[in-house]
Amino acid sequence: MNGQTAAVILAAGEGTRMKAGTAKVLCEVATKPMIDWVVDSALQAGVSRVCVITGAHAEEVENHLSVRYGDRVVFARQLERLGTGHAVRYAEPFLKQFQPENVAVLCGDAPFVSSAVLQDSLAEHMAKANAMTLLTAALDDPFGYGRVVGTDGALSIVEEKDATDAQRAVKDVNSGAYWFETKALLAALPEIGNDNAKGEYYLTDAAGILTAAGRRVGAFRTADSDCVKGANDRLGLLTLNELYIRRRVDALARDGVEFVLRDGIVISPDAVVEPGAHILPGTIIRGRSVVKAGAVIGPNSILDNTVIGENAVIESTKCTDSTVGPGAKIGPFSQLRPNSHVGAGVKIGDFVEVKNSTIGDRTSVAHLTYVGDSDVGGGVNFGCGVVTVNYDGKQKARCKIGDNAFIGCNTNLIAPVSVGEGAYTAAGTTITEDVPDGALAIGRARQTVKENWANEHIGFKRK
Ligand code: UD1
Ligand code: CA
Repeated sequence: MNGQTAAVILAAGEGTRMKAGTAKVLCEVATKPMIDWVVDSALQAGVSRVCVITGAHAEEVENHLSVRYGDRVVFARQLERLGTGHAVRYAEPFLKQFQPENVAVLCGDAPFVSSAVLQDSLAEHMAKANAMTLLTAALDDPFGYGRVVGTDGALSIVEEKDATDAQRAVKDVNSGAYWFETKALLAALPEIGNDNAKGEYYLTDAAGILTAAGRRVGAFRTADSDCVKGANDRLGLLTLNELYIRRRVDALARDGVEFVLRDGIVISPDAVVEPGAHILPGTIIRGRSVVKAGAVIGPNSILDNTVIGENAVIESTKCTDSTVGPGAKIGPFSQLRPNSHVGAGVKIGDFVEVKNSTIGDRTSVAHLTYVGDSDVGGGVNFGCGVVTVNYDGKQKARCKIGDNAFIGCNTNLIAPVSVGEGAYTAAGTTITEDVPDGALAIGRARQTVKENWANEHIGFKRK
């Protein structure tokens, strides 16, 4: 990008129409909060600084963005919500301090503004020496959006509620994303009044103000009309989800990812699904998950920030912040909780929970087992019902299990404890002390048989 640029992203709105009880801009499209889509596009477009205007649920929004972006994003709080023109005024100190030549003003509730469109519109904005360039597209149903009226170079924006019937018939809508020459924006902001149907300070009035001052106000028209769409309520959010997911699944299918149905599939824009992967219905792929070629995910599985290796199978299972090696088979009905690293060819069967553990190649944990805070080698066999007892009510501790060990059914491993390479634990054993390599540990009450007990005490008679 040429010259210094910044982005101001409006995210202070209450979102009452969303009825979320949370900030509107944190509502998710394809598992990603809308505000993250917008910040990512701005950063990918190459802006040097990002200032997010927060207000309603400010702490929630700021905490979320700080975790994700660190100091790449700064905040300004809009104390009362008096409209988009009022919101941008809170960015004045940021703009005066940083003095970018041009600034993008973006809406935190319009996620599809892309970095490519931001770059292309900036190029046009600079080439035409515009004071303001608004991003626009024609919509079949422009209801609810500001309409773009006038001729290129002398455009203005009329809000739905203030528009005449003739203006409402205009299909060209204001996306709410603009490039401004920073000086022109700072000059226009104090001129914006609130004499309109909503009694709000409309940022859109800057167009008319700059045109009247003899400055050029142009439009960057995109043929991709989805790019301008925003969500003000739950129906709008559903529409954005459907638009994106349909496009994404179609694009992946074109690349060679196998789907049998589109139903119930959600894929984060930050996730990677390689050609040759197979995604079954009911699969939700969140965050920066990666699904490698030949892997089969679903039905009914959730991957959150998890990497699935080639040809692995994940059936009816939830995996969070974890990695799964090539050829591993997980599920049905299991869970990998955060920081689990499962090696190649591992089998994890039904009703198994793994947390904060590594599991070496070809190990089998086939049924009804909890592996928490453990380092498990390769080629280990877990019988049914094994529990790593990692918590004494006060502290967590780790278990270590060596390569090729055999953990008998219903073994309890009281951490911290280790089982050596090739060692065995007998079924029903509670392990409280380290087991050396190659040993067998048995720790259970010896069986007592009382002959005839049932006959005498219960009156049980064999037929
Ligand atoms: C706005 C535009 C409209 C455009 C539409 C595109 C104005 C007056 N209208 O309308 O022309 O077609 O976006 O989606 O700008 N916000 C604040 N502080 C406020 C008010 C709003 O930060 O005081 C934020 C909201 O959180 C939201 C964004 O600004 O992220 C847009 O506000 P919203 O009320 O949704 O504007 P629209 O009615 O959609
Ligand atoms: Ca909006």
